[in-house]
Amino acid sequence: MSGHRPVPVTVLGLGSMGSALADAFLRAGHPTTVWNRTASKAAPLVAQGAVHARTVGEATAASGLVIACLTTYEDTVAALEPAADVLEGRALVTLNSGSPAGARRMAAWAGGHGARFLDGAVKNVPAAVGAETTLLYYGGDRAVFEEYEATLRVLGGDTVHLGADPDLAALYEMAVGGTLLPALVGFFQGAAALRARGLDAASMVRFSVKWFEMINSVLPRFAEEIDSGDYAEPASSVGMFLAGADHDEEFAREAGLDVGWHRPFRELLERAVEAGHGEHSVSALTEVLAEPR
Ligand SMILES: NC(=O)c1ccc[n+]([C@@H]2O[C@H](COP(=O)([O-])OP(=O)(O)OC[C@H]3O[C@@H](n4cnc5c(N)ncnc54)[C@H](OP(=O)(O)O)[C@@H]3O)[C@@H](O)[C@H]2O)c1
Repeated sequence: MSGHRPVPVTVLGLGSMGSALADAFLRAGHPTTVWNRTASKAAPLVAQGAVHARTVGEATAASGLVIACLTTYEDTVAALEPAADVLEGRALVTLNSGSPAGARRMAAWAGGHGARFLDGAVKNVPAAVGAETTLLYYGGDRAVFEEYEATLRVLGGDTVHLGADPDLAALYEMAVGGTLLPALVGFFQGAAALRARGLDAASMVRFSVKWFEMINSVLPRFAEEIDSGDYAEPASSVGMFLAGADHDEEFAREAGLDVGWHRPFRELLERAVEAGHGEHSVSALTEVLAEPR
């Protein structure tokens, strides 16, 4: 923590993530004020040295930097309403999930009460808050980001300002987060297949990790194809993925698995072939996704 004097910080919302944020600030020596609707959740942080504000107004007035980590933007506005008159001039940072439209509404509300606003996203689990590699990104008032960058970096070493638009973190959150459920369901399907053969899911973790590393390695090339619109030199074609879909169905029958979640992927591949992308890189699916039926 060398290089900056810990500034006072307020954390509103002490669920799993908000508590982890407050914990990181306390560990880094920041005078930390906390508030939560259900007051009892403040107790472990008070034991670590946090000041427990009884009202959201008292908590907001305690620091120049106020970090809110409630479930949604709507919850944040509802909770902050009684503190609206003390927001003027303060830096308000929201770190909840939500849509870009929600972030824009939140920014308008905060701006309407004179707050300087940043919206961010924590791209990791609460246990990773404070680690050097943990990624958080922010959109909104650059001056706020620059003023408090060292403090925000306490939450994760990989801290990025995406730009002045307050909905950018929510936009990237949605764009990047889209892989999570399909990737995990694929892993769970593999685990079910192994369990059906009396093998442990743990036996495939090392191989799955390598598989994800392979996926990581091809993303820059796919992004280049998408950004240039040139899909003509595929490393893996749409047609190849469509042929692979047949294997999935045969395997599912054999293993007695429910692979109904594959059907929309197969339809997407078929639509790409119909649109003339059969011999193109599989990244051409982006074009089909950009034209919803
Ligand atoms: N946990 C994760 O792994 C993770 C990772 C990345 C991002 N996030 C995001 O971080 C945000 C918080 O997640 P979490 O895991 O901390 O959730 P959580 O454990 O369910 O906590 C939710 C928090 O919001 C408060 N809250 C909700 N509605 C409220 C309202 N109307 N008025 C006042 N307080 C209200 C709750 O207060 P009470 O205690 O009084 O109910 C609690 O402090 C979410 O947007 C989540 O998507 C979470």
